[in-house]
Amino acid sequence: MKTLAILAQKGGSGKSTIAVHLAAYARTQNIHPALIDLDPQGSAYDWNQGRAENDPNSPKLDFVRARESDLPREKKKAEDNGVQLLIIDTAPHSNRDAAQAAKLADFVLMPCRPARFDLKALISTADIARLSNTAAAVVINHAQPNSNKADEAKAVIQGQGINVLPPVLHRRAAFESALTGCRAVHEYEPDGKAAQEIAELFACIKQGLKLS
Ligand SMILES: Nc1ncnc2c1ncn2[C@@H]1O[C@H](COP(=O)(O)OP(=O)(O)OP(=O)(O)O)[C@@H](O)[C@H]1O
Ligand SMILES: [Mg+2]
Repeated sequence: MKTLAILAQKGGSGKSTIAVHLAAYARTQNIHPALIDLDPQGSAYDWNQGRAENDPNSPKLDFVRARESDLPREKKKAEDNGVQLLIIDTAPHSNRDAAQAAKLADFVLMPCRPARFDLKALISTADIARLSNTAAAVVINHAQPNSNKADEAKAVIQGQGINVLPPVLHRRAAFESALTGCRAVHEYEPDGKAAQEIAELFACIKQGLKLS
């Protein structure tokens, strides 16, 4: 089993959006996913609760809500249940939870919008990841389509010595629409650009985690 922690100290950077999409997409790639929602807001958990138990196209997945102190036990449970990809979604401004999630993970993914305040907040997220000694990288999310904002942000982030993954997620209405219906973009609009971007991000993470 491989564990992916999704961290961003800044609220609204796309942690839960990316967490649920990677989990839902993993299933289509015959990888058994599970998700631990550490955020008391429970956005990822609620999204899954809204899914139908036996819908072949968008079935309910193995999501649990937990506290930081439950993480080692929940991780062991997932491993015993044959989970292949465990995703931990975290809350913003949650240094302690984020640090524990990063420590238990094989890889830390740090979503970041290409905007000034987000880039500033990224420094503290990257510090948490660095202290955990777990490999980490940023994914740019919510980039304006047809602009060079993502490339500019990548250059700034890399200039701070922080890794950035090649795939970029752009601001796309399909994300909002899919999430509203408790679906993922590949279920809502399989041939759309958002679905393509999630597939690219998943492939990149799969390779980084050496998931087969
Ligand atoms: N690429 C995108 N395109 C369009 N909307 C997006 C995109 N990514 C995220 N959003 C929207 O932005 C909002 C914030 O995203 P999300 O809840 O995933 O962020 P978060 O980091 O989990 O927030 P929090 O810190 O509150 O947990 C949501 O309404 C989500 O649907
Ligand atoms: Mg969230």
